[in-house]
Amino acid sequence: MKEHTLKKTRVMFGMRPTGDLHIGHLLGVLAQWITSGDQDEAYLEIADLHAFTTGFADPQAIRDARNEMVAVWLAAGVDPAKSTIFLQSAVPEIAELHALLSMIVPVSWLERVPTYKSQIDALGPEIATYGFLGYPLLQLCDIAVVRGQRVPVGRDQVAHLEMGREVVRRFNYLYGDGKEILVEPQAALSDFPEVLGTDGRKMSKSYGNAILISDDEATTEKKVRGMVTDPLKQRRGDPGRPEVCPLFALWKFVDPARLDSVAAGCRTGELGCVQDKAWFAEELNGYLRPVRERLALYRSDMGQVERIVAEGTARTRDVARGVLEDVRRAMRLT
Ligand code: TRP
Repeated sequence: MKEHTLKKTRVMFGMRPTGDLHIGHLLGVLAQWITSGDQDEAYLEIADLHAFTTGFADPQAIRDARNEMVAVWLAAGVDPAKSTIFLQSAVPEIAELHALLSMIVPVSWLERVPTYKSQIDALGPEIATYGFLGYPLLQLCDIAVVRGQRVPVGRDQVAHLEMGREVVRRFNYLYGDGKEILVEPQAALSDFPEVLGTDGRKMSKSYGNAILISDDEATTEKKVRGMVTDPLKQRRGDPGRPEVCPLFALWKFVDPARLDSVAAGCRTGELGCVQDKAWFAEELNGYLRPVRERLALYRSDMGQVERIVAEGTARTRDVARGVLEDVRRAMRLT
C-alpha cells in the first residue's frame, strides 16, 4: 500500500498543432501544466493526427505548426527534462491500438459524444469522416499507450474522457481475465474558466478574436483597445459590471493582485474602459515579454526543438511498445 501511494501519477496531455497559439492556450491548460508539479510524471503530445481530422486538406499547415507549437510550449516554461514531449504520428503504437480497439467500440458510443455533432454543425459536413468519428477513441489511445492516469482538460473534453473510460472497461472485461490491462484515465478539470476573446466569445483563432503569443506588443495593444467590455458602460463615469466584462476576465489571469482595485474603479465609474485597456495592455505585454523573448530564441534554433521531440518520442515508444505487447497478449494476437 505504502509503495502504491508513493508512486508518481502519470499525467498526459495533447494539443493539436493548428496554427498560432494564443493567450487562451497559455493562460488555460498550459499554465496548469507548467505548475502541475514535480510529483507527476508528464507526457505532452503533439496531436498531429488529430489535426488531420479537420485539417486533412492542408498537411503542410499541420507540418509547419508542429514545431512552432513546441517552441511556444518551451518558451512558456515547459521543461523537457520533466515533461516527455512526443509526436503522435511518430508513435505507430497509437495507430495500432486504435485499430485494435475499434473492433470493440460501438458506433453509437462515438456518435453520442456531443462534440461530434456540434463540430460538424460548426465546420460543415465535409469533416464527418470515419477518422473524425473516431476522434475520442484516438484520444484514448494517446493516453493509453503511456498508461496515462490523469488528463488535464477543458470542459468540452470531459465527454471524450468518459467515452474512453468506457472503452477501457470494455476491453478489460472482454480480454483482461480479471486483470487491468489498460488504465482508466481520470479527467482533471482545469480550474481556469474559459479564456474569452476580444469579442467576448471563447478565444479561438478561427473566430478571429485571439491575442496571439507571437503578436508583437503594438498588435497586442491594438487588439486590447478593440476589446468589447460591458455594453452598458458607454463612457467614463458610467458604473460598469466587471462580472460581464471579457477584459476584466483576463485581468484575473494576468495580474490577480490588481483585480479588486480595477473592479472597484469600474463599478463606481471612476475607471473608464479606455484607461483600463491601456493599463491592461501594458500589463499583458509585460507578462508576455519573457515568453516572447524565449520564443524568439527557440525559433532561431529549431534544431534544438527537433532534438527534444525526437528524444521524447523515442522514450514514449519504449513505453508504448510494452503496452501494445500486453494488449496483443490479452487479445491472443501473439
Ligand atoms: N482533443 C484535445 C483538444 O482538442 C487534444 C488531444 C489529443 C488530447 N489527444 C489528447 C488532450 C490526449 C488530452 C489527452 O484539446
